[in-house]
Amino acid sequence: MTSTEARSAPIFSPRPAGGTSSTVAARLPRLAVLGGTGRLGSAVVRGAQAAGFPVAAIVGGPNRRRSRSFPADVEELPLFAAVDLALALAGTDVIVSATTAAAEELNIPRWGEYSLPAVVATTGLSPRTLRALRDASTRAPIVADTNFSLGVQILTQLARALGPLPDGFDLSISETHRRSKRDHPSGTAQALVASLSGTGALGWSEASGVREPGRVEIASLRGGDVPGQHTLWVSGPHEVVRIEHWAFGREAFVDGILAAARWLAPARGPPPRPGLYSLRDVLSAPRPEGA
Ligand SMILES: NC(=O)c1ccc[n+]([C@@H]2O[C@H](COP(=O)([O-])OP(=O)(O)OC[C@H]3O[C@@H](n4cnc5c(N)ncnc54)[C@H](OP(=O)(O)O)[C@@H]3O)[C@@H](O)[C@H]2O)c1
Repeated sequence: MTSTEARSAPIFSPRPAGGTSSTVAARLPRLAVLGGTGRLGSAVVRGAQAAGFPVAAIVGGPNRRRSRSFPADVEELPLFAAVDLALALAGTDVIVSATTAAAEELNIPRWGEYSLPAVVATTGLSPRTLRALRDASTRAPIVADTNFSLGVQILTQLARALGPLPDGFDLSISETHRRSKRDHPSGTAQALVASLSGTGALGWSEASGVREPGRVEIASLRGGDVPGQHTLWVSGPHEVVRIEHWAFGREAFVDGILAAARWLAPARGPPPRPGLYSLRDVLSAPRPEGA
């Protein structure tokens, strides 16, 4: 998914210096938040408003009209149904999408035609949707990542630093998410396995009680409204090392998403070339002076 060479990156705040002044707002891209009526999307809308991003449109489900479940604090913003996507994107600089895998199957081929930069946070995308995403990224830069949390970037960096393990040590990942999350194991758990290549791990398998030699075992739990928990277990015969990340709320993903939106439409300098990027690319890119 990465298309720039990533360096070991500091984790930085996406909030522009100077807060929410009108000069700052004028330099920030206008966002359309697809899925802005949902849990992650509404957190993005709130975070964007707090950071001074103009929110040009919110897009909900195919038949969504204003309802009592619509978050009160974003009630004044223009809300569109998915059928009106073209209309919703008319005044938009950057799309942010946090919908469902089924919705993306229809939405991405549609907005992919408009050559707009996009941040895609939706997980569990089908191979067909991923092909549509790659196609769209030939026309505009797109940041897609299974986890926009800055803490998970730290977890990934720690995983990447692991070398070969002593004999008798095994790698496992456990992950917990809200009961309605359909895909498993999480995309983050699978991406974490890719970061463990220095240990010699050969792919992953779902926990079944019998370990496959050399593979990272992944156990998935679904319950309540847990926003996201990932633990990397390094288990030896007499001891265990655990590296753990907990998201307390969807806000944990918002800073990374907004950093990506800013990176796609910089106030100064050229925007990134068309291509498919990850949050790691965003965080490791040099920042233009004054940004
Ligand atoms: N990458 C990350 O860091 C990260 C972090 C957290 C979550 N996620 C992912 O983000 C996605 C959303 O999670 P969530 O917890 O916010 O789910 P959610 O609360 O169920 O929200 C989904 C939203 O999608 C909307 N929607 C449905 N069909 C649509 C369409 N055709 N066009 C536009 N919007 C549509 C729904 O609107 P209606 O209510 O009107 O149907 C709803 O607002 C999931 O895939 C989740 O796994 C990613």
